[in-house]
Amino acid sequence: MILMKDIIREGNPLLREKSVNVELPLSNEDEEILLSMIEYIDNSIDEEIAEKYDLRAAVGIAAPQIGILKKMFVIYLTDEQGNEHFYPLVNPKIVSYSDEQIYLPGGEGCLSVDREVTGLIHRARRITADAHLYDPETRTLKHVILKLKNYPALVFQHEYDHLFGTLFPDRINKEKPLFVPENSKPVVFPKYEETADK
Ligand code: NI
Repeated sequence: MILMKDIIREGNPLLREKSVNVELPLSNEDEEILLSMIEYIDNSIDEEIAEKYDLRAAVGIAAPQIGILKKMFVIYLTDEQGNEHFYPLVNPKIVSYSDEQIYLPGGEGCLSVDREVTGLIHRARRITADAHLYDPETRTLKHVILKLKNYPALVFQHEYDHLFGTLFPDRINKEKPLFVPENSKPVVFPKYEETADK
Protein backbone atom coordinates (compact mmCIF):
# COMPACT_ATOMS: atom_id res chain seq x y z
CA MET A 1 0.00 0.00 0.00
CA ILE A 2 1.07 3.59 -0.60
CA LEU A 3 2.15 5.38 2.59
CA MET A 4 3.16 9.01 3.09
CA LYS A 5 6.83 8.01 2.81
CA ASP A 6 6.11 6.83 -0.75
CA ILE A 7 4.75 10.22 -1.80
CA ILE A 8 7.45 12.44 -3.20
CA ARG A 9 7.50 16.04 -2.09
CA GLU A 10 8.22 19.45 -3.50
CA GLY A 11 11.95 19.73 -4.17
CA ASN A 12 12.21 16.25 -5.68
CA PRO A 13 13.07 16.80 -9.37
CA LEU A 14 10.80 13.90 -10.45
CA LEU A 15 7.80 16.09 -9.64
CA ARG A 16 9.02 18.54 -12.29
CA GLU A 17 9.26 16.01 -15.12
CA LYS A 18 6.73 15.45 -17.88
CA SER A 19 4.92 12.14 -17.81
CA VAL A 20 4.61 9.90 -20.84
CA ASN A 21 1.57 8.19 -22.30
CA VAL A 22 0.70 4.78 -20.96
CA GLU A 23 0.83 2.00 -23.51
CA LEU A 24 -2.48 0.30 -24.14
CA PRO A 25 -3.71 -2.31 -23.50
CA LEU A 26 -2.85 -1.67 -19.90
CA SER A 27 -0.01 -3.83 -18.58
CA ASN A 28 -0.41 -5.63 -15.26
CA GLU A 29 2.22 -3.34 -13.81
CA ASP A 30 0.33 -0.18 -14.82
CA GLU A 31 -2.92 -1.67 -13.59
CA GLU A 32 -1.32 -2.28 -10.19
CA ILE A 33 -0.20 1.36 -10.05
CA LEU A 34 -3.76 2.52 -10.71
CA LEU A 35 -5.16 0.13 -8.12
CA SER A 36 -2.64 1.29 -5.53
CA MET A 37 -3.62 4.92 -6.13
CA ILE A 38 -7.32 4.05 -5.78
CA GLU A 39 -6.49 2.23 -2.57
CA TYR A 40 -4.57 5.24 -1.25
CA ILE A 41 -7.56 7.54 -1.65
CA ASP A 42 -9.91 4.97 -0.12
CA ASN A 43 -7.58 4.49 2.84
CA SER A 44 -6.96 8.19 3.26
CA ILE A 45 -10.66 8.93 3.73
CA ASP A 46 -11.23 6.00 6.08
CA GLU A 47 -10.74 7.56 9.52
CA GLU A 48 -9.45 4.43 11.19
CA ILE A 49 -7.00 3.43 8.46
CA ALA A 50 -5.86 7.02 7.91
CA GLU A 51 -5.08 7.41 11.58
CA LYS A 52 -3.35 4.04 11.86
CA TYR A 53 -1.02 4.76 8.91
CA ASP A 54 -0.92 8.55 9.31
CA LEU A 55 -2.29 9.25 5.82
CA ARG A 56 -3.27 12.68 4.56
CA ALA A 57 -6.78 12.70 3.13
CA ALA A 58 -6.84 13.22 -0.63
CA VAL A 59 -9.39 13.74 -3.35
CA GLY A 60 -6.80 13.01 -6.01
CA ILE A 61 -3.40 11.48 -6.57
CA ALA A 62 -1.28 11.40 -9.71
CA ALA A 63 1.32 8.76 -10.67
CA PRO A 64 4.26 11.24 -10.65
CA GLN A 65 3.56 11.79 -6.95
CA ILE A 66 4.70 8.23 -6.32
CA GLY A 67 7.63 8.73 -8.68
CA ILE A 68 6.04 7.11 -11.73
CA LEU A 69 6.22 9.38 -14.77
CA LYS A 70 3.17 8.01 -16.57
CA LYS A 71 -0.07 9.75 -17.45
CA MET A 72 -2.37 8.33 -14.81
CA PHE A 73 -4.27 9.81 -11.92
CA VAL A 74 -7.21 9.02 -9.70
CA ILE A 75 -9.89 11.42 -8.50
CA TYR A 76 -12.51 10.55 -5.94
CA LEU A 77 -14.59 13.39 -4.57
CA THR A 78 -18.03 14.66 -3.73
CA ASP A 79 -19.08 17.72 -5.68
CA GLU A 80 -21.04 20.79 -4.55
CA GLN A 81 -24.34 18.98 -5.20
CA GLY A 82 -23.32 15.95 -3.18
CA ASN A 83 -22.66 13.78 -6.26
CA GLU A 84 -19.71 11.41 -6.21
CA HIS A 85 -17.09 11.52 -8.93
CA PHE A 86 -14.71 8.58 -9.22
CA TYR A 87 -12.23 8.74 -12.09
CA PRO A 88 -9.25 6.44 -12.31
CA LEU A 89 -7.80 7.77 -15.56
CA VAL A 90 -5.22 6.74 -18.09
CA ASN A 91 -3.83 9.10 -20.75
CA PRO A 92 -6.15 12.03 -19.93
CA LYS A 93 -6.03 14.98 -22.28
CA ILE A 94 -7.91 18.23 -21.76
CA VAL A 95 -9.30 19.24 -25.14
CA SER A 96 -11.15 22.39 -24.15
CA TYR A 97 -11.23 24.95 -21.36
CA SER A 98 -13.92 27.53 -20.63
CA ASP A 99 -12.98 31.21 -20.34
CA GLU A 100 -14.98 31.38 -17.14
CA GLN A 101 -12.87 30.49 -14.13
CA ILE A 102 -13.28 29.19 -10.60
CA TYR A 103 -11.13 29.03 -7.49
CA LEU A 104 -11.17 27.56 -4.00
CA PRO A 105 -11.47 30.46 -1.53
CA GLY A 106 -9.19 28.64 0.92
CA GLY A 107 -6.61 27.86 -1.74
CA GLU A 108 -5.48 24.41 -2.83
CA GLY A 109 -3.47 21.70 -1.13
CA CYS A 110 -1.39 18.82 -2.38
CA LEU A 111 0.05 15.62 -0.92
CA SER A 112 3.40 16.69 -2.37
CA VAL A 113 3.37 20.16 -0.80
CA ASP A 114 3.97 20.17 2.94
CA ARG A 115 4.11 23.90 3.59
CA GLU A 116 1.23 26.32 4.02
CA VAL A 117 0.78 28.25 0.79
CA THR A 118 -1.21 31.48 0.62
CA GLY A 119 -2.76 32.34 -2.71
CA LEU A 120 -5.57 31.59 -5.09
CA ILE A 121 -5.45 29.44 -8.19
CA HIS A 122 -7.90 30.29 -10.94
CA ARG A 123 -8.78 27.41 -13.20
CA ALA A 124 -11.27 26.86 -16.00
CA ARG A 125 -14.82 26.41 -14.71
CA ARG A 126 -15.57 23.82 -17.39
CA ILE A 127 -13.33 21.42 -19.18
CA THR A 128 -13.75 18.68 -21.73
CA ALA A 129 -11.27 15.84 -21.52
CA ASP A 130 -10.51 12.79 -23.57
CA ALA A 131 -9.33 9.85 -21.45
CA HIS A 132 -9.47 6.17 -20.70
CA LEU A 133 -11.53 5.44 -17.61
CA TYR A 134 -10.57 2.38 -15.58
CA ASP A 135 -13.20 0.28 -13.83
CA PRO A 136 -11.65 -1.59 -10.90
CA GLU A 137 -14.70 -3.90 -10.65
CA THR A 138 -14.44 -5.25 -14.17
CA ARG A 139 -10.75 -4.36 -14.57
CA THR A 140 -11.46 -2.81 -17.94
CA LEU A 141 -10.66 0.49 -19.59
CA LYS A 142 -13.01 2.45 -21.75
CA HIS A 143 -12.49 5.51 -23.87
CA VAL A 144 -14.52 8.44 -22.54
CA ILE A 145 -15.12 12.12 -23.15
CA LEU A 146 -15.57 13.76 -19.76
CA LYS A 147 -17.33 17.07 -19.42
CA LEU A 148 -16.72 18.46 -15.97
CA LYS A 149 -17.58 21.70 -14.27
CA ASN A 150 -16.78 23.46 -11.00
CA TYR A 151 -15.09 21.46 -8.24
CA PRO A 152 -14.49 18.23 -10.21
CA ALA A 153 -13.09 20.29 -13.11
CA LEU A 154 -10.80 22.14 -10.70
CA VAL A 155 -9.44 18.96 -9.12
CA PHE A 156 -8.99 17.42 -12.58
CA GLN A 157 -6.84 20.38 -13.63
CA HIS A 158 -4.77 20.14 -10.43
CA GLU A 159 -4.03 16.44 -11.06
CA TYR A 160 -3.49 17.05 -14.77
CA ASP A 161 -0.84 19.64 -13.91
CA HIS A 162 1.15 16.92 -12.12
CA LEU A 163 1.55 15.13 -15.47
CA PHE A 164 3.39 18.18 -16.80
CA GLY A 165 5.55 18.87 -13.75
CA THR A 166 3.44 21.76 -12.49
CA LEU A 167 2.53 22.20 -8.83
CA PHE A 168 -0.27 24.44 -7.60
CA PRO A 169 2.01 27.10 -6.01
CA ASP A 170 3.41 27.75 -9.54
CA ARG A 171 -0.01 29.03 -10.56
CA ILE A 172 -0.36 31.66 -7.84
CA ASN A 173 0.08 35.25 -8.93
CA LYS A 174 3.35 36.20 -7.18
CA GLU A 175 2.62 39.94 -6.95
CA LYS A 176 -1.04 39.61 -6.01
CA PRO A 177 -1.65 36.13 -4.59
CA LEU A 178 -5.23 36.90 -3.55
CA PHE A 179 -6.22 38.70 -6.74
CA VAL A 180 -9.53 37.57 -8.22
CA PRO A 181 -10.00 38.23 -11.94
CA GLU A 182 -13.41 39.42 -13.10
CA ASN A 183 -14.18 36.12 -14.81
CA SER A 184 -13.44 33.95 -11.74
CA LYS A 185 -15.98 32.80 -9.13
CA PRO A 186 -15.45 30.90 -5.88
CA VAL A 187 -16.42 27.24 -5.63
CA VAL A 188 -19.19 27.11 -3.06
CA PHE A 189 -19.94 24.02 -1.01
CA PRO A 190 -23.29 24.15 0.69
CA LYS A 191 -22.58 21.06 2.78
CA TYR A 192 -19.04 20.00 2.19
CA GLU A 193 -15.65 21.24 3.23
CA GLU A 194 -13.45 23.01 0.74
CA THR A 195 -10.59 20.74 -0.19
CA ALA A 196 -8.54 20.01 -3.24
CA ASP A 197 -6.11 17.15 -3.15
CA LYS A 198 -5.44 17.43 0.54
NI1 NI B 1 -1.34 17.59 -6.04
